[in-house]
Amino acid sequence: MNRAPDKHNRASVHDATWAVHGGNSIDKGTGALRTPLIMANSYLLPDDPSDMDWSSVDDGLVYTRNAGANQVALETKLAAMEGAEAAAAFATGVAALHGVFFALLKSGDHVVVSNVTYEAVYRLFGELLPEKYGIGATFVDADDLEAVRAAVRPNTKLIHAETIANPTTKVANVAALASIAKDAGVLLTIDATFTPAPFYRALDDGADLVIHSLTKYINGHGDAMGGVVIGRRELVQHIRHDAIVDAGGVISPFNAWMIMRGSVTLPLRLKQQFSSAEKVAAVLESDPRIAYVLYPGLVSHPQHELAGKQFGGRGFGGVLAFAVEGDSNTQNTFVKNLQVITSAVSLGHDETLIVHVGPDARGGSENYPASFHKYGHLRLSIGLEDPEDIIDDILSALDKTFGDK
Ligand SMILES: Cc1ncc(COP(=O)(O)O)c(C=O)c1O
Repeated sequence: MNRAPDKHNRASVHDATWAVHGGNSIDKGTGALRTPLIMANSYLLPDDPSDMDWSSVDDGLVYTRNAGANQVALETKLAAMEGAEAAAAFATGVAALHGVFFALLKSGDHVVVSNVTYEAVYRLFGELLPEKYGIGATFVDADDLEAVRAAVRPNTKLIHAETIANPTTKVANVAALASIAKDAGVLLTIDATFTPAPFYRALDDGADLVIHSLTKYINGHGDAMGGVVIGRRELVQHIRHDAIVDAGGVISPFNAWMIMRGSVTLPLRLKQQFSSAEKVAAVLESDPRIAYVLYPGLVSHPQHELAGKQFGGRGFGGVLAFAVEGDSNTQNTFVKNLQVITSAVSLGHDETLIVHVGPDARGGSENYPASFHKYGHLRLSIGLEDPEDIIDDILSALDKTFGDK
């Protein structure tokens, strides 16, 4: 048997090898080892282009809104990393989410959505899609599988949830949701931004489409935005056609190139960030100055057991939600006292970020746990700094905030 690995064949190499070589090829023109950045809007047409379908997504490289060299390289890499047939890269994560809903839903359709989701999804289904297009949505506690099943109607087209939900860290049982979706003959779309492959593959648990904000872990360096939809070719091409070619949500070649570069270290970064997050969560939970901590790696987390099983013991993500004892000013004072951790939105970056959100500041916050209503929350995204420095920064900011006892 030939055991020689082939770095361009996904099936023959491990995740870390694919993260380095997937989608990349030696540039024929220059011999450069990395797919170069190609900032071209148009590509040379064939000798007789007269019969071409200008909206085609299958005619190779024609126009960058349909497909460009860097987008294709990134899509090839991410689809194979996720074990899927195809991927379509968008300008942002929200553009990818909107692209899925825009392409797959029409007036009169209905969706079942987890009642804790990224804010933009909450507004899309709570306001924009119902008001503009007459698409109905029922928000349900995705942990209550009977409620999810009961919410499905004859006109339901899809069920949507996040593997680990932003911001409460609620964990979706993807296999159970997939089984409900399958029984009902509807699609399951999963936003797996908090848990990218190779850490977790929601498609293996029965999801039909996986969506990532590439802005977060996959790029990982806080310097480029993007989004991706991954799944069966026929579904992905439908979404690409409607939402990218004919609605324009395409990623720029530069961002695709940046994200390709960032994604080389993804498996290493995830291991480091997720392991540091567990250490930080344990310290926070044992400190009396902390009002509450929600992190799937803590035994106290409502879906701890599910997360352990679903993520195969590889970790529990890199985002925590917590609050310090005290009012909104106390949360702000604590954040101000941090020296290593930066107060900024976003997550999955190389640097640790924290954001203070008041109790009612986000759409859908009525569905958050009671502790969020009492204190608001601090969303902490663990970065690549040494975990001891992150922990010392937190402890020192607590000392400054509450007085060094
Ligand atoms: C779970 C999740 N999905 C989607 C998005 C949106 O991604 P983007 O900011 O790239 O549009 C975010 C952003 O925070 C997110 O946390």
